[in-house]
Amino acid sequence: MRVLVIGASGFIGRYVMRRLGASPEHEVAGTFGSQPPADDGNAWHQVELTDAAAVERLFEHTRPEAVVHLAAIADIGAAERDPERATAINVAATSTIARLCEQHGAHLIFVSTECVFDGERGFYREDETPRPTTHYGRTKWEAEQEVVWEAASWSIVRTSIVYGWPHPGKGNFAPSLIDNLRNGRPYRAPTEVLRTPVYVEHLVDGIALLVERGHPGILHVAGRDWVSMYDFASAIANTFDLDANLVQPMDADAQARAGASTRPDRLGLDCRESMRRLNLEHPSLAEGIAALRADAPGP
Ligand SMILES: NC(=O)c1ccc[n+]([C@@H]2O[C@H](COP(=O)([O-])OP(=O)(O)OC[C@H]3O[C@@H](n4cnc5c(N)ncnc54)[C@H](OP(=O)(O)O)[C@@H]3O)[C@@H](O)[C@H]2O)c1
Repeated sequence: MRVLVIGASGFIGRYVMRRLGASPEHEVAGTFGSQPPADDGNAWHQVELTDAAAVERLFEHTRPEAVVHLAAIADIGAAERDPERATAINVAATSTIARLCEQHGAHLIFVSTECVFDGERGFYREDETPRPTTHYGRTKWEAEQEVVWEAASWSIVRTSIVYGWPHPGKGNFAPSLIDNLRNGRPYRAPTEVLRTPVYVEHLVDGIALLVERGHPGILHVAGRDWVSMYDFASAIANTFDLDANLVQPMDADAQARAGASTRPDRLGLDCRESMRRLNLEHPSLAEGIAALRADAPGP
């Protein structure tokens, strides 16, 4: 199958490229914006996604049968700082991509986020109504609606906090925490911020399956365990044989005193229905962190 991965130079995109590129069944092309990837044998295209004519040329050149769209301003703070650019990339470019998928008869897999929900209750199901509270969340929710309106064949994959080994020079929660704890630096971890963290390779299992089988609709693909950031950080410390006492619990009052938002931050996704539909294994937090450790890059 001819697969186009948009946003392939990003954290999740590089894992998607590697997985799909390793399959002899697929002819894979990937896009980057500003970060030229290493020469890994895949076809790479530099595209500015806010340039609709350039995105049209990309589709004509690659003639995809399936498109995995990951490109976004994926950082909440960056989206707040430049809301117009976040809207242009996250919403308008997604609309263009969805329309082109329809024109080219390609199945669109759009990667979205738990941030489409309001964070009041957490552990949201696929059929619950989004009510985003951040600009990032609003752009991703609007983008989901563009996908539904413009594309004929689509899957929306919402996920939670994704952890893994990032490309050198880039950050990710788990490796940053490990680095801090190894250097004896304490980490104050919120006990009331809730997520369903997922190891990046387990998210890619779901995305790769959707490329092959194209299950339509909204899917939740994240970790099985709904945990606080304190539990998450403690589990990482224990699995990596680091000093778990350096992970210090911080409740909502302490967070408020430290100047953090007092808005409830209970996200996380109930993925049971999607896992049943996809017939996918649903790894626990312990299994995800063990896989992270097993995949650790050499010294
Ligand atoms: N990481 C998470 O924990 C998480 C959680 C939930 C949902 N998601 C979603 O998953 C997707 C991927 O996230 P990620 O963490 O892999 O993001 P990332 O590392 O920031 O990568 C973003 C990608 O988008 C590309 N891009 C951004 N603006 C562009 C533009 N104007 N033109 C062309 N390309 C552009 C970047 O290209 P260059 O770097 O080459 O410029 C990069 O390939 C996003 O849609 C995000 O909303 C992520």
